[in-house]
Amino acid sequence: MTEEKKEIVIKVAGVKKNFIVGEQSIPVLMGIDLEIFRGEFVLLVGPSGCGKSTLLHTIYGLEEPTVGTVFIDDDDIWVKTKDWRANFRNQNIGFIPQQPFWIKSLTVIENIAIPAIITGKTFAEGIEIGAKLIELVGMSEWANHRPYDLSGGQQQRIALARSLLLDPKFIIADEPTGNLDRAAGEKLMQLLLDISEQFNITILMVTHNTDQYKFGTRIVNMVDGKIMSDVVNKGSLTEIKKDKN
Ligand SMILES: Nc1ncnc2c1ncn2[C@@H]1O[C@H](COP(=O)(O)OP(=O)(O)OP(=O)(O)O)[C@@H](O)[C@H]1O
Ligand SMILES: [Mg+2]
Repeated sequence: MTEEKKEIVIKVAGVKKNFIVGEQSIPVLMGIDLEIFRGEFVLLVGPSGCGKSTLLHTIYGLEEPTVGTVFIDDDDIWVKTKDWRANFRNQNIGFIPQQPFWIKSLTVIENIAIPAIITGKTFAEGIEIGAKLIELVGMSEWANHRPYDLSGGQQQRIALARSLLLDPKFIIADEPTGNLDRAAGEKLMQLLLDISEQFNITILMVTHNTDQYKFGTRIVNMVDGKIMSDVVNKGSLTEIKKDKN
């Protein structure tokens, strides 16, 4: 590991989360400690219902831990206000959901540009940034199509482009390849890896697909609300490349 990679950028500290359902308090996260270093591509894996999405949401600032907290870049995000967290998210974290959401009446490039306009850029500036991002994910020829006319894999590449709009330090992705076939999934993973390396973006992503392990620099395995194993992935493309150098 290089020195640069030793900088902790996300620290999950003793996080427990119970959901209240009726009269019952159901434990879902049962004491999670996790430190993520700058530039890592962390794959979060584990059986359905073990708490992966819940953990992502506590880091993304949407689901408050019952006990414990999350530090991002040294900020304790759960002592801050909701507005602070929303602003922090917009500024620093790109999110890719399993199923991307689009405004139907807008084109691909307009869908990407809209959030830029919301943050005070002009329409022309938004379109200009959008065009660069669409090019980055190899989808330029689709810029003026409607997003729902694209395949699942193409939509996820556009969702990746959109997540990069505000120059995030982090990408959080909840099974972005869940609905894709193997080839489309691998293409998205390769893009994520390239972008992570090119822009030094730290990625935390959930996947169910063991074929994709080679893309991650680290595999964190959760079972029943706990981390069962957490290993640097020596078989990852990044590690293999590093060993060759
Ligand atoms: N808002 C909620 N209220 C009550 N229970 C919830 C809530 N959100 C999640 N849960 C429960 O918490 C548990 C963990 O859910 P979570 O979505 O984190 O699992 P997961 O590991 O992401 O599963 P999957 O792989 O199927 O997406 C599940 O039993 C789920 O039913
Ligand atoms: Mg989930």
